[in-house]
Amino acid sequence: MDVRELASDVSEASAAISAKLRRVVVARYGGPEELQVVEERRPEPKPGEVGIRVLAAGVSLPDVMMREGVHPETPPLPFTPGWDLVGVVYRLGDGVSGVEPGQTVAALPIHGAYAAYVCLPQGKLVSVPPGLDPAEAVSLVLNYITAYQMLHRSARVRPGQRVLVHGAAGGVGSALLQLGRLVPLEMYGTCSARGTAAVSDLGATPIDYRQRDFVEEIQRLTKGGVDVVFDGIGGKHIWRSRRALRRGGTVVAYGLTGSLQGGRLASGGSGGRQRYRRLAIFGVYIAGGWLLPGRRHVVPYSIQWLERVRPAWFHEDLTMLFDLLRQQRIKPLIAARFPLSEARQAQELLGKGGVVGKIVLVRDP
Ligand SMILES: NC(=O)c1ccc[n+]([C@@H]2O[C@H](COP(=O)([O-])OP(=O)(O)OC[C@H]3O[C@@H](n4cnc5c(N)ncnc54)[C@H](OP(=O)(O)O)[C@@H]3O)[C@@H](O)[C@H]2O)c1
Repeated sequence: MDVRELASDVSEASAAISAKLRRVVVARYGGPEELQVVEERRPEPKPGEVGIRVLAAGVSLPDVMMREGVHPETPPLPFTPGWDLVGVVYRLGDGVSGVEPGQTVAALPIHGAYAAYVCLPQGKLVSVPPGLDPAEAVSLVLNYITAYQMLHRSARVRPGQRVLVHGAAGGVGSALLQLGRLVPLEMYGTCSARGTAAVSDLGATPIDYRQRDFVEEIQRLTKGGVDVVFDGIGGKHIWRSRRALRRGGTVVAYGLTGSLQGGRLASGGSGGRQRYRRLAIFGVYIAGGWLLPGRRHVVPYSIQWLERVRPAWFHEDLTMLFDLLRQQRIKPLIAARFPLSEARQAQELLGKGGVVGKIVLVRDP
């Protein structure tokens, strides 16, 4: 152990003793009141793992859906939410090399990031260049990867194509617009009234979905429809999105925002782990897209499945996105920063809607 490592270990150890180490736990599926803060000792990495002091964890609708028990990735109870994190390595488990204590890393653990400290397998980590704001960096891990891979790996967009982005002021939506502008694409974005200025600033024509019918509006504005629709709303909405396509166009279906209302299940039911109930409808629309005339297809996108099947893409794409952030070619919109112990308030704010950009949990003061 060199002097730098020893010094970092000593300061970490004293911080760990004096600070209360917090973690957020869901012990029952349900509303934001189910997010409980527990205090515990710092975890120690097992062989092959790396201990990380979390600097920033993203708050996203998939976290809310897991809390409600309806996301396909919902773990059994009790669990700690949090898809994405950026943190600093504090300790290496046996057999780990090529990572240094003090190094900043990012990861997509899918759950577990709402914690002061986490331990993750080394293969899950992507190095973060020095000097980036952890809140901005963490926005790339779930939202921008999702946006980038949908644009370039699912839809394979080409310069000048027309796209419609639903929820364009939200976390993934604003990422789609920033990355779409770099292509460049002709962009339209649905949002509520509070998001229209942000959507215009990001280079898209806003469509207030609460005031106007987006299918009619797209047909009026484009005289023929768009090449691609990015639909994170899900359910029957996918079918309406298909009607906004030109012949030969594609809907990329990737979310179930429409199954929530005010941050709770729109159906009113809750309390169980129902991971697959809402997925069947995707199959119906995908099959329908191929069977019906008009060559308007629906393709699904899932970051977690692509990461499992093609882990190298995740590393490659995230490293490239960090580079774009370092060069200031993208600038994630940070809607709010909450201390970790206020995870409940952060999810309540996201659930209320009208949030522009990404909500991030940062370390407790
Ligand atoms: N498949 C994947 O790999 C993947 C990865 C990440 C996220 N997701 C999914 O992506 C979706 C968005 O996640 P997020 O974290 O970006 O959420 P978010 O930040 O809350 O953004 C969602 C946005 O949708 C808007 N919205 C709600 N209902 C709408 C409607 N009917 N029409 C148009 N816009 C509407 C909301 O605006 P207002 O509140 O102003 O109405 C909000 O701006 C979620 O369903 C999530 O599960 C999927």
